[in-house]
Amino acid sequence: MRVLTGIQPSGDLHIGNYFGSIKAMIESQNDHEVFAFIANYHAMTSLSDGVRLSQLTMQAATDFLALGMDPQKSTFWVQSDVKEVLELYWILSNFTPMGLLERAHSYKDKVAKGIASNHSLFSYPVLMAADILLFGSEVIPVGKDQIQHVEIARDIAIKFNNQYGDVFTIPEFRVDENVATVPGIDGQKMSKSYGNTIAIFGDEKTIQKTIKKIVTEAVPMEEPKEYEGCNVYNIAKLFLDEEGQRELQERYKRGGEGHGHFKLYLHDVMWEYFRPYRERRVYYEAHQHEVREILHLGASKASEAVQPLIERIRMATGVKY
Ligand code: ADP
Ligand code: TRP
Repeated sequence: MRVLTGIQPSGDLHIGNYFGSIKAMIESQNDHEVFAFIANYHAMTSLSDGVRLSQLTMQAATDFLALGMDPQKSTFWVQSDVKEVLELYWILSNFTPMGLLERAHSYKDKVAKGIASNHSLFSYPVLMAADILLFGSEVIPVGKDQIQHVEIARDIAIKFNNQYGDVFTIPEFRVDENVATVPGIDGQKMSKSYGNTIAIFGDEKTIQKTIKKIVTEAVPMEEPKEYEGCNVYNIAKLFLDEEGQRELQERYKRGGEGHGHFKLYLHDVMWEYFRPYRERRVYYEAHQHEVREILHLGASKASEAVQPLIERIRMATGVKY
């Protein structure tokens, strides 16, 4: 099955991103045909600093390679390296009623937050539809906020197919209900926008400091503690197998240790967990030319994959004469 994911290059990845989406994507490379790209055109809707965008694009590529994106198994590229997506974006615009975009929550939310409304913000879902449809993707794993965008892609595909025959595969979204929301250090959903994140690749001192700030209940050291509902436990358990989780639960129940001890333990398990990824990241950080090469090869692979379909679309619509 062909699975497609777009990743906005938006800064330091946190453990909510990792357990909420990256881990499953990396694992799915073993039994699916994964197409993953860095959505730098989409990022332009919220970023107008060119130097920053190009840095963030390389950072995202470096992070994903370090975390296990495997360019041998999967196709991994930068959105702007496969220009056919812009061609399809225009073609699809002709099958996109204004009302469909006017109903998009994400657009309405962004405008409500005071982001200036411009054409790219408004037509964002059409570009996303082009990403999805160009690759004949069957399944799009998304967070809840992106479901409507996949539905818009479906609507556009159906309209196009009604006009020109069965050109597009009708995509489906997949929301992984098993993935729990990772809490941030204040117990709310971990999110960049709440400033409550623990970075995957932060330096050790900063991670220690952040973990120290995790909000916990004040209970005297000697007394037993509740692990359920404890932010430290809820984050630590992500890194532990069942036995590890049981052992930590016992330590909570036994008493005699304070939350400071559990925070130190969380730091240790997290640091160990990401050690191999961190080492691989150091390598890629020092070999950025290799990262660029991987991205260029990925773009060639992606470009090759879309040629038959884009040719068919050009013929069907008559732009090929
Ligand atoms: P942020 O909320 O930090 O801006 P994004 O919206 O960029 O994160 O999320 C990127 C991916 O990570 C999405 O698939 C999203 O569902 C997942 N994700 C982000 N935060 C969490 C979280 N706290 N728990 C689980 N998944 C998360
Ligand atoms: N809009 C997505 C997000 O913000 C990123 C994205 C762009 C995407 N194109 C895509 C995701 C195509 C899936 C498929 O997370």
